[in-house]
Amino acid sequence: MDKRSFLKNVGLMSLAAPLNFAQLEKAVAAVNHLDPADVASDEAFWLKVRGDYDLKPDYINLENGYYCFMPRQTMDHLVEHMRNVNYEGSYYMRTVQWENKNAVAGKVAEIVGCTAEEVAITRNTTESLDLIIGGMNWNAGDEAVMAEQDYGAMLNHFKFVERRFGVVNRMVSVPNHPKNDEEIVDLYASAITDKTRLLMVCHMINITGQILPVRKIVDMAHAKGVEVMVDGAHAFSHIDFQMKDLDCDYYGTSLHKWLSAPLGSGMLYVKKEKIDSVWPLFAERDLDANDMRRLNHIGTHPVHTDLAILDAIEYQNTIGLDRKEARLRYLQHYWTSKLRKVPRVVVNTPEDMSRHCGIGNVGIEGIEPSDLADKLLKDYGIFTVAINRPGVRGLRITPNVYTTIKELDALIHAITELST
Ligand SMILES: Cc1ncc(COP(=O)(O)O)c(C=O)c1O
Repeated sequence: MDKRSFLKNVGLMSLAAPLNFAQLEKAVAAVNHLDPADVASDEAFWLKVRGDYDLKPDYINLENGYYCFMPRQTMDHLVEHMRNVNYEGSYYMRTVQWENKNAVAGKVAEIVGCTAEEVAITRNTTESLDLIIGGMNWNAGDEAVMAEQDYGAMLNHFKFVERRFGVVNRMVSVPNHPKNDEEIVDLYASAITDKTRLLMVCHMINITGQILPVRKIVDMAHAKGVEVMVDGAHAFSHIDFQMKDLDCDYYGTSLHKWLSAPLGSGMLYVKKEKIDSVWPLFAERDLDANDMRRLNHIGTHPVHTDLAILDAIEYQNTIGLDRKEARLRYLQHYWTSKLRKVPRVVVNTPEDMSRHCGIGNVGIEGIEPSDLADKLLKDYGIFTVAINRPGVRGLRITPNVYTTIKELDALIHAITELST
């Protein structure tokens, strides 16, 4: 369903003004003939994108990894959807609510090249992945594999199924600077036994930005009869990929991260033939065992958030995911390549271009990450987040499309000064 017929379906929403993309479209038209890698360093172009964001002047925000707040166009439309749904009330809920939700699932599915029937719109990665961890048919003694660098909420849910069902969790530790893909694949393979049922792997590790060789891990795990669940919280709408290229069984992400959709929007992908093997968290009325909606009954919820996901997709499509990915990689490479050379500075993100994109992590020998984060904010007006996890001590640096080279120069200057 295209945007026009979608809006028609929601009745009053047909009155919605088109997103104010005129400026952005004009800027994009001027660089359309160029390779995204060349546009990546075009500060004039990205300054126009910056103009779409309401930025707090109090600090330089290098902490977009928590979530990427919306550009003005998406925000305006979210408010408009809220107004319209509130105006229509239960009429909206009883007429087009589900049709629209399915249409949103279809648009999200398009980005990663899968079918709408394999996608559920959830509230976030936590909901998506914990639903799989908690919904597997576990038997006592079954094993699961994961990494120390995985996200706490999922690790906690694995601990929960350990207590509840007697699942045995096996933990690997991913090196920050792997020699090659095989080192990572072998690491995960070494934790698999004949009792292993599920392997969780990050597509992009949130604390270092390292991109893992998911397809190779999936092939290795499948050959041993193990299912793979991918934590894609930071990869979706950050790097371009297709689900068929990963071939994983389950994939969860948060749309409020790199897609810049409203807070409380996420996606769960389940490979078609696996849907019937997962128990829902909240029981749905009798649906076919292969129907994805079985896993997605959360009751009455803020449907205007779902609607604004379409606006976030339209905004991203206007910039182009390939341009956005190239810009984010360029920004990260810009500051890490300078700081890697500074004595006492430790960059915890791999240098190899295929193993990183926009996220980086940097520490200074002898300085506690939390002290470093405090100093950066108080003395230099730069907002980051301190990471103190196994093998990773430093600050996570997450610029977004609105970040300028001037802002990164301020970071380079601050870290260099603090390291001497
Ligand atoms: C790797 C990873 N997984 C899962 C999550 C959880 O995301 P959410 O809080 O949106 O559910 C995060 C959040 O930062 C994350 O970085």
